[in-house]
Parts: sequence; structure tokens; C-alpha cells
Amino acid sequence: MAPRIIDAIKEDHREIEDYYNKILAATTDKEKTQWQNQFTWELARHSIGEELVVYPVFEKNLPDGKAMADKDRHEHNTVKEKLKKFQNMKPADPAFESTLKSLMADLSQHIKEEESQDLPKLEDAISAAESEKLSKSFGRTKMFVPSRSHPSAPDKPPFETVAGLMAAPLDHLSDLFRSWPGTSGMPNPSTK
Ligand SMILES: [Fe+2]
Ligand SMILES: [Fe+2]
Repeated sequence: MAPRIIDAIKEDHREIEDYYNKILAATTDKEKTQWQNQFTWELARHSIGEELVVYPVFEKNLPDGKAMADKDRHEHNTVKEKLKKFQNMKPADPAFESTLKSLMADLSQHIKEEESQDLPKLEDAISAAESEKLSKSFGRTKMFVPSRSHPSAPDKPPFETVAGLMAAPLDHLSDLFRSWPGTSGMPNPSTK
């Protein structure tokens, strides 16, 4: 049985927070870069997955859903701009930690709103079966969306159409050449 969408999203949030803590706790630049790659990979896929699969369902099912989705997209864009800057930084850069912390301050506020307001409202408005279907679709979508940050204007989500996705950068190819935590190499999107 698939988890409900609120639980699938909470699980992602906890992972992203864990990767954030691991970047800060890492003792070598190499290890910092590995967790930086993991953090970027998960946050980019999570954000685009929500934009493609979850926010349209806010709009469809909730009376204030359009305003909620627009607010969330706007907040995503602020975080994506910071992630775009952070994802290419070297740990030796004096602004490495401050850029990450500033990103996380914005992201934590957004995560809190999603978990305490937006998603509970959605769960109230849809059935358990619909929620499980949504979380399956969220998981599948995350497999093929870009895994790096490519912000665009907040009123124009970049990959919301199939055509947009076809034009998406080939992040997964360059992921092959990045450094990842652990010994298993690059994360496998189909297992996450
Ligand atoms: Fe979000
Ligand atoms: Fe989220």
C-alpha cells in the first residue's frame, strides 16, 4: 500500500533536513561535496515533483487552492534561486555555509506551512484512495524530473508540461560524474 501524500512528502522533508545536517557535520571537503550533491538532487526532484503533481491538485480541490499553489510556487522559486547558487559552490568558498543556511531558513518556513496547513487541508478534501494514488504518481514523477535547480519566473513553472520536460537539462547524465555519499554511487531514482 502506498503512503498518503502527506506522509510521502513529510518523509522527503525529513531526508532533505538530514542531508542538510550531514553537509554541516561533514569533516572533509570531499564529504561535504557528496552530501551537497545528495541534498541538491533530492531537493530539486522534490520541488518539481510537488509543482507537477501536488500543487495542481490544490488548485482543483480546494476553494483557496489557487492562492495556496501560487504562494508555494513563489516560495519554491526563492529556494531554487538559492539552490542554483549553492549547488555549484565549493566547500572552501567562504559563503558555502551561509548560503546553505539562508536557503534552509526559507525552506524550513515553507516546509512548516506545507505540513501544518496546505497538506492537511488537501487530505481533508480528498479520499484515502486518491491520496495514495497521488503519492504513487509523486514518486514516479520524481524519477524523471531534473535533479538540479533551474529556476524560472514564479508565474511560469518550468517543467509543468511534457514539452517543458522534454526540454529539461540532462541532469541525470552529469549526475554520473558527480561524487555521492556511501559506496553505492549515484542515487537510483527508482528506489527513492
Ligand atoms: Fe514545496
Ligand atoms: Fe515540500
